Amino acid sequence: IKDLGAAELAGRRALVRVDFNVPLSDDGKVADDTRIRAAVPTIQTLLKAGARVVLCSHLGRPKGKPEAKYSLAPVAPRLAELLGKPVTFVPHVVGAEAEAATKALMDGEVCLLENTRFEAGEEKNDAALSAAFAKLGDLYVNDAFGAAHRAHASTEGVAKLLKPAVAGLLMQKELDYLGGALEKPKRPFIAILGGSKISGKIDVIEALLPKVDGILIGGAMACTFYKAMGFETGKSLVEPDRVDMAKDLMERAAFRLTIPHDATVAPAIAEGAKAHAVKRDEIPTDEAMLDIGPDSAASYARAIASAKTIIWNGPMGVFETAPFDKGTNAIAQAMVEATKKGATTIVGGGDSAAAVEAAGLATAMSHVSTGGGASLEFLEGKVLPGVAALDAK
Ligand code: 3PG
Repeated sequence: IKDLGAAELAGRRALVRVDFNVPLSDDGKVADDTRIRAAVPTIQTLLKAGARVVLCSHLGRPKGKPEAKYSLAPVAPRLAELLGKPVTFVPHVVGAEAEAATKALMDGEVCLLENTRFEAGEEKNDAALSAAFAKLGDLYVNDAFGAAHRAHASTEGVAKLLKPAVAGLLMQKELDYLGGALEKPKRPFIAILGGSKISGKIDVIEALLPKVDGILIGGAMACTFYKAMGFETGKSLVEPDRVDMAKDLMERAAFRLTIPHDATVAPAIAEGAKAHAVKRDEIPTDEAMLDIGPDSAASYARAIASAKTIIWNGPMGVFETAPFDKGTNAIAQAMVEATKKGATTIVGGGDSAAAVEAAGLATAMSHVSTGGGASLEFLEGKVLPGVAALDAK
């Protein structure tokens, strides 16, 4: 795909699709600006080149009509602080007023349009809406990796109408890291996959198995594997209809798939709960696995230390509630150490990225993806429609 270097920028309106789908606090302020900060390099580059920047994004999942709590208005002041220059908020997605606002921009100025999902045509990838978006720019830049798995009017439809349609710097960086790991990883290459459900990770396990030297499993999804091994799983979260699948996967993967040898269990998820470690075949009937055990955490840390490329997606336990955050933190720390020694460390978006951000370790990794669903689909080997729609090199 083409990048910013392929576009003439000075004096032109760049319609830039960003992923400003950020959490807002109850008083309507940006609660986590990670994704806004991640888009700044592209915006700065465009501004320096004398472009007129028109930003658009979705926020949350409004159902095709305006809803005050999903307005992008709170993002404009935060972005203005980060850029050190005014950002005009335009309370329209498309239409005459939006178009007039984009035409009023001078070189080096920025405006932010209202939530693209306030338009019913956005998620339908409607042709008329795509054409309306195309009127808001002279070229198109997609920097919304986090939304690239959606074939929507602002991510896919408009890219086919506005030329050139190029990737922003964040988009390029995400594709370089994730794509680089899949195509030419430094070895050993390992993946650490966690989360509560095996059903959400099965496709990524299947896609990574032929490429990696090992996959280390964590999170409650380990319990579906325990069940497949014939172990008691107590009150743990298990997906009974996936047990056969887990069995089949273990047989095919053999030594390349590691299921945690011990588990941290407790009667319930509660701050400071009476947690204790047990071997994986000793989970009490009245307790649930809520984290990987200390032996597994230590052995996973050793595996990370000897790997050259590490991809991590999904927490090892209920990391939001101490003490069930120990496994997740151990992985994060081991990845920080590996990064220092020159390994390429990649954290997939979503929960594991949130855990790494919360621990203040994001900058100590090679790359933390801004995409949750998008990074997972990319690792599954799927074509992301928002990327496929950009101009070929
Ligand atoms: C995300 O948060 O993963 C992206 O912004 C996509 O949001 P969506 O799942 O609502 O399409």
